[in-house]
Amino acid sequence: MDKRARSCGTCGRRVGAKHAFCPYCGAPLPTLRGASLQVTGTAEVDLGEQRRVVSVLFADLTGSTPLGERVDAEDLRNVLKVFFDSMSRQVLRYEGTIDKYVGDAVMAVFGAPVSHEDDAIRALNAALGMQRAVAALNVDLDLERTYGARLALRIGVSSGEVVAGRLGGESAAAYTVVGDTVNTAQRLQAAAAPGEIVVGETARRFAWHSFVFEELPPLMLKGKARPVPAYRVLGWRREGATPDAHALVGRSDELAHLRSALGELSRTTGRVMGIVGEAGVGKSRLVREFRASCTPGVNHLLGRCQSFETNTPYALVASLVRGLFHLQVGEDEPTARRVLASGLADPAIETDLPLLLHVLRYSQRSPLSRRRLRGYNASWAQYCEFRGHTTRRPPRSAAA
Ligand SMILES: Nc1ncnc2c1ncn2[C@@H]1O[C@H](COP(=O)(O)OP(=O)(O)OP(=O)(O)O)[C@@H](O)[C@H]1O
Ligand SMILES: [Mg+2]
Repeated sequence: MDKRARSCGTCGRRVGAKHAFCPYCGAPLPTLRGASLQVTGTAEVDLGEQRRVVSVLFADLTGSTPLGERVDAEDLRNVLKVFFDSMSRQVLRYEGTIDKYVGDAVMAVFGAPVSHEDDAIRALNAALGMQRAVAALNVDLDLERTYGARLALRIGVSSGEVVAGRLGGESAAAYTVVGDTVNTAQRLQAAAAPGEIVVGETARRFAWHSFVFEELPPLMLKGKARPVPAYRVLGWRREGATPDAHALVGRSDELAHLRSALGELSRTTGRVMGIVGEAGVGKSRLVREFRASCTPGVNHLLGRCQSFETNTPYALVASLVRGLFHLQVGEDEPTARRVLASGLADPAIETDLPLLLHVLRYSQRSPLSRRRLRGYNASWAQYCEFRGHTTRRPPRSAAA
């Protein structure tokens, strides 16, 4: 295999260095520009020295030392290879940059050299994905039963300003980021218990509307004069889980307009409505108020297009499917399988379950052949339109 081969950030398969796009799923592939830098996407990036606001993630593996005592060095290397593969897959999926590997720890940066408006959210999504991947690794390799050892990750994430650029002299320069944010991320990681993700104040502020946090007592971190606020990430926040702080002001015309369209729905075939407005003007709030005011007989589904899922096949459909079956983001595969199967009518389980698992990205080991998938792809529109009716019991608040 080509030594410069790397993993596709979208489907996770190994691809050769010559490919600009993944031959399996078509997603753009990282450009290889240097030993320690894996920049995702095909956009031209500026590697010159710059001040940037980034989110730095440190993930350190625990349990590899006891494992190392019980297994052959070559076997340990194989376990670590699978581990690093799954870590880098999470970073690349959210278009972050692997800055370095230190022993069995990984440092990743979100926001340099490529910035996104939601880098902290991407970093936390990657962190939760990493925790899930390590849990799956323990099960897949049956480490506890075979070797009596369990792998776990401690993760720290800190957001803030850094200086990004090439470091290390002319002959062997590598792109990296430097600043207090990096040191803090490492200290937060050291303070996290195995299986935990601990973040600093700024990262929490950037991501509070997408994740649930638990405040920890301020941490006395090595090298810091004052205690540092710290938060444990508990998981993804459910849409509408936090009530609005203020009562709705105005918007009666807009709501009346939406309700009249809803009234027409029962008489006609429905319509598409667009809500457009400047950032923060109240688009999401209007939709929330409208959904909350729908009578119980009206079923509704919410799908969301996330900025980091533009290269993920069926991301929007997956979000609708999760809504249809009341599945949380990041649910583990056995739970998803059970929930989907219990929601499908018996004849649909065999045909539809593999398809739904594939769409929800649980199918690294998809039993579907490429030919079957192509057939399914062609009929997705019909599927979404008609298969809602094959669910055994009507979902609580959903209809495709
Ligand atoms: N009519 C209103 N009455 C009271 N509060 C409102 C109203 N409209 C919006 N808000 C509040 O203003 C804040 C921003 O609103 P919202 O998130 O809906 O904006 P948005 O247009 O969806 O923003 P973005 O473009 O960033 O998605 C929210 O806290 C929301 O509850
Ligand atoms: Mg909005």
